[in-house]
Amino acid sequence: MTDSIIESFPLTSMDVTDLQQQKLKALFPEVFTESGKIDFDKLRLTLGENVDAGKERFGLNWAGKSVCFQTIKQSSVATLVPARDESVDFDTTENLYIEGDNLEVLKLLQKSYLGKVKMIYIDPPYNTGNDFIYPDNYAENLNTYLEYTGQVDGEGRAISTNKDTDGRFHSKWLNMMYPRLFLAKNLLREDGVIFISIDDSEQSNLKRLCDEVFGEENCIANLIWQHSLQPKGYSGTFSVHHNFVLCYQKSSDFELANLERTDEHNKNYSNSDNDPNGAWRSGDVRNALYRPNLIYPIQTPSGKIIEPPANGWRWSKETLQSKIQSGEIIFSTDETRIIRKIYLNTLDGRTPETILFGKDVGTTREAASEIKIIFDGKQPFDTPKPTGLLKHLSALSGLSRNDTILDFFSGSSTTAHAILDLNKEDGGNRKFIMVQLPEPCDKESEAFKAGYKNIAEIGKERIRRVINKIKTAQTETEAKADLVDKLNESNSPQDLGFKVFKLQKSNFKVWDANVEKTAEAIQFALDEFVDHINPQAEQEAILFELLLKSGFELTTPIEKLTLSDKTVFSIADGALLICLEKALTHDVISEMAKRSPSRVICLDEGFQNNDQLKTNAVLMMKNHGVEVFRTV
Ligand SMILES: C[S@@+](CC[C@H](N)C(=O)[O-])C[C@H]1O[C@@H](n2cnc3c(N)ncnc32)[C@H](O)[C@@H]1O
Repeated sequence: MTDSIIESFPLTSMDVTDLQQQKLKALFPEVFTESGKIDFDKLRLTLGENVDAGKERFGLNWAGKSVCFQTIKQSSVATLVPARDESVDFDTTENLYIEGDNLEVLKLLQKSYLGKVKMIYIDPPYNTGNDFIYPDNYAENLNTYLEYTGQVDGEGRAISTNKDTDGRFHSKWLNMMYPRLFLAKNLLREDGVIFISIDDSEQSNLKRLCDEVFGEENCIANLIWQHSLQPKGYSGTFSVHHNFVLCYQKSSDFELANLERTDEHNKNYSNSDNDPNGAWRSGDVRNALYRPNLIYPIQTPSGKIIEPPANGWRWSKETLQSKIQSGEIIFSTDETRIIRKIYLNTLDGRTPETILFGKDVGTTREAASEIKIIFDGKQPFDTPKPTGLLKHLSALSGLSRNDTILDFFSGSSTTAHAILDLNKEDGGNRKFIMVQLPEPCDKESEAFKAGYKNIAEIGKERIRRVINKIKTAQTETEAKADLVDKLNESNSPQDLGFKVFKLQKSNFKVWDANVEKTAEAIQFALDEFVDHINPQAEQEAILFELLLKSGFELTTPIEKLTLSDKTVFSIADGALLICLEKALTHDVISEMAKRSPSRVICLDEGFQNNDQLKTNAVLMMKNHGVEVFRTV
């Protein structure tokens, strides 16, 4: 059979368990058997006393937890199809908007975005009893999605909200969150960070869940965000003014950034004595803890005695003397106390605090105003976050100007809005990846009446409008200052575009390993498989599927070449060559091989059952050092 001459291209998403096994193998190669399986007894021996053999242990458990692992393990056979007409600057932009169920999408992104994201922000459904919780079905998750979005029968399937009366209320939510967080963690860089908005309904469960997924030692803070300022009137219960932002680092490589100081933060610093070191404020000289060895009197220049504070001073006698000598510690004019100077110019920004006040980062009311400004006074989305909150979290994560930010419960795209604004403010090139389910808008909602059928349409439209706003402001400023030429020369222009992709069935039929083992069923599956490319699939959709499943980012530059009268796509400056021609020739194969790419992919049907051509192709590729040559 010809198929064995060239290896087939794998069409499923990355096997996440395989990745975990590889990590284990790197640490304990000795516990792997010849056939690549894990010898648990050996692992136990290797770990010695560190194995907890007891049955009762601390941890979070819920109904369905074991199914989560199957959900994670099940590879996705879906793809992401480009939607050029809904995008802005499709060919050049590095921003992404992906419409689909985020579980499938996260699986599809594993290969291309593994360890590439600096910051993740998510604002998932809080499980208040009124929000719908996506019903994962590990065996046929894609089908659930296709039914939900009406891609199966054109109707669309409603998903009911998770009710408080439901016997598995919390379990359902945890089952939804666990696999997503697990997969999201893989996408974070080692110095990356994730922020998760949540309220009281699931905060305690989420904290425990994150401790399990990210490691308790990686919890940086449980931030409190003051979302509203006005009391809600007397009702016999608390007027709730906050919810939480849980914050976990991927590893200790992450560094929490200090924040910028403003005039407001500097207002207590002055230079009343013309100190050459500049403005200062006085700092505490007392020790917070009882330190008997630091309890000693101080003699002033005129011989007076200053008694020590009850716990003692902060420094030893010698250190204090040297500070007096350097002028960092001075005596009050009446010589009854010492004053420690904290100089403004020695401060490296401002240490972040765990409470995010509404006046500093915005409230839900401000979030509503922001979205109304964008949508001409209408509010098509009920629960947006303020862009100020996202900008603050970006500052905490120490985003550099080229970093990638992911939000996979992106709603009205507040995160994209904030990132576009930040780039506009400092000329940065941060890139966003938004993921959002096309959750239908309620027929009675303002959004539906305004023509938005689902939330993804609102999210995309918000980004388009923010982009237009920035473009209009730029044109006005440039016209005013007559700076057009200068700007074009000196600055690379801001990336004011985004590529839209949609979750869909693969463009290829993927061999179903679960096919019933009867002669008829296998024959039927084989017949179906013969023409295994969806006849409706567009060339560009196939191209992006191969790109994604080869582990290239969706924004990788693609060049269209003509080699020996055939079209060949050159990916990432020729690292990968893809030829989707249905009639391959010796010449085009030779031309591709001569360019010595590291990988080449062709259609299997392109060889038209010509075994001789296939064998020659394999030889040509080998001779030119092509590492991977696959057909699909
Ligand atoms: C609280 S909202 C996020 C709001 C957002 N932070 C903003 O400022 O607009 C949560 C969003 O997650 C979306 N969502 C829920 N389940 C999802 C899933 N499985 N995949 C993708 N998005 C989902 C919902 O449609 C909803 O729009």
